[in-house]
Amino acid sequence: MSRTVITFGTFDVFHVGHLRVLERAAALGDRLVVGVSADALNERKKGRVPVFSERERLRIVAALRVVDEVFVEESLEAKRDYIVTQGADVLVMGDDWAGKFDEFADVCQVVYLPRTPAISTTAIIEHIADL
Ligand code: CTP
Repeated sequence: MSRTVITFGTFDVFHVGHLRVLERAAALGDRLVVGVSADALNERKKGRVPVFSERERLRIVAALRVVDEVFVEESLEAKRDYIVTQGADVLVMGDDWAGKFDEFADVCQVVYLPRTPAISTTAIIEHIADL
């Protein structure tokens, strides 16, 4: 039986840490679905408007070979709905979220993957701003 994996993120200023988490998520199943967070959600969550719009971020993530489907994540509260609607068997999150999504263990397997060290969108933006 086919196994669907779901993950969520902003994926702004796309970098190799993003690629690696998506590659490892894809390897856990047969179909990878990615919820890319809406611009408005980002502003609320990180207090920053993304460099690239949700339309652009969605297009970049959708173009990756390991990604089968993308959608805009409009609300953090809707996570359970997204998981169920997509028929996800596995929820993958970076370990910066370790333990935070255990409540969904009743509908899918919850896996936290180690973040790639020493890279983040925030660090890239700060690095460029300092040049
Ligand atoms: N991620 C990762 N390794 C990194 C950076 C991100 O595995 N070095 C993962 C996160 O754990 C998450 C996904 O990539 O599962 C999307 O993360 P996102 O928040 O969009 O990227 P960050 O680079 O962490 O962004 P920011 O600096 O704005 O928090």
